[in-house]
Amino acid sequence: MKKIHFEHINSTSSYLKENYDKYDNLTFVSADYQENGRGRNGRVWSSEEGENLLFSILIKDEVLFNKTSDLSLSSAVCVYKCLKKFNIDDVSIKWPNDVYIKGKKISGILLESVSCGKGIEALIIGVGINVNSEKFTNDLINEPTSMCLELGKKIDLDEIRQVIYNEFIVMINDIKNDKRNYLKIVRDNNYLKGKKVYALIDNKRELVEVIDINDDNSLKVYVNSNYLNVYSGEVTFHV
Ligand code: BTN
Repeated sequence: MKKIHFEHINSTSSYLKENYDKYDNLTFVSADYQENGRGRNGRVWSSEEGENLLFSILIKDEVLFNKTSDLSLSSAVCVYKCLKKFNIDDVSIKWPNDVYIKGKKISGILLESVSCGKGIEALIIGVGINVNSEKFTNDLINEPTSMCLELGKKIDLDEIRQVIYNEFIVMINDIKNDKRNYLKIVRDNNYLKGKKVYALIDNKRELVEVIDINDDNSLKVYVNSNYLNVYSGEVTFHV
């Protein structure tokens, strides 16, 4: 299990995408700064140099290639557990894999697959956690938070990098062995539960009420007197 750290990189996830054939399963790549940090749905993930955790983990284990929704949700649970270990309260998980503290986003996860003609060759879990940032730019609607803002003190990045790395190694092994303890944590700390949000249903944006998370990791919602399952996509808030 190799760990590589860069001061500057394009993106830890892009790096692993381009170099997955050179590295083993569970290679961990982190960076102080990303020139082109990527978020979900083509968004940018920006972070000041040396302030936050930016890392990606390479998965080259075929058993895990069809467990992407388990890996996605349980990655958020790894971040949840890590924040709890640093005594942060009120942590919740916003399906499919954002981590929130009292309504403010503290971490985002980007799960990508690398495919060629034969099918999936690798998965890459990219994680950004706001650790020591105190000011955020260009996100006025959904104001984020950081561990430092929550705790009122700076956090040692090497320490938290080690804690989160250990959480991910245990989690990936659990998912491989079909241990799904993460579901209870996601259900008990479901940020969206009871909230009205917009979700894409049959390609139509519908206002739905979030009920729960199903056993298959989909989101159970109530709309037009029916219960439906949402499998993918972004849910946005009704304001
Ligand atoms: C999101 O919430 O939109 C997901 C953000 C994921 C950001 C991380 S930072 C490390 C890794 N490298 C990237 O370019 N993106 C992910």
